[in-house]
Amino acid sequence: MAEHESRPNGPTVSLADFELMKTTALFGDEDVRSLRASLPILKDQTDAILDVWYDFVGSNSHLLYYFTSVSDRQPIPEYLDRVRERFEQWILDTAAAQYDQHWLDYQLEIGRRHHRSGKNRTDRVDAIDHIPYRYLPPLVVPITTTLRPFLEKKGHALDEVDKMHAAWVKSVILQVTLWSLPYCVEGDF
Ligand code: HEM
Repeated sequence: MAEHESRPNGPTVSLADFELMKTTALFGDEDVRSLRASLPILKDQTDAILDVWYDFVGSNSHLLYYFTSVSDRQPIPEYLDRVRERFEQWILDTAAAQYDQHWLDYQLEIGRRHHRSGKNRTDRVDAIDHIPYRYLPPLVVPITTTLRPFLEKKGHALDEVDKMHAAWVKSVILQVTLWSLPYCVEGDF
């Protein structure tokens, strides 16, 4: 959080803070344009993308674990399904790249939903209640690597695909950074 502000309603991140994060990631207007160009490409492929991402989580028991019930350690199918719907919306939101305070606040909510302060609440499930931070940044790699073939599918020039892919990598890194707020010692974000 920039400067010496004290925020009465708990930690938050302002659009000014986010601007400086974007600058730090070399994320500019061209990236916004590239993300938005990816929207029409990806929008009818979200199911296929989610199949790939869910296969990755499903085939890694240390990740699937966070979708399992504390009582019998079995995956909770309804939980996987509901999260998948929100994940689909996230693909569209990431590509839409509309950054306002509402979007920023929702990023902090997504962070809480990975952390014990908010996980499981949306779907009222008894799953493992916290995802360790050490898995969040590394997951950027499979998410963005496996996205690339979907960006290539509609016959765009290679340099356009490169730009869209680079913008996605930056955006996901920035979002995961926002999500790390509840994991940081107070005042250290
Ligand atoms: C690059 C890293 C990650 C991305 C982009 C990502 C993306 C997302 C998104 C978009 C959602 C839905 C948010 C919403 O409610 O609107 C979500 C929820 C969830 N993710 Fe992740 N995630 C990441 C890391 C992880 C990791 C490492 C795990 C471990 C298995 C994980 C497990 C979950 C679970 C269990 C939920 C449901 C949380 C709840 O509401 O109870 N995620 N994730």
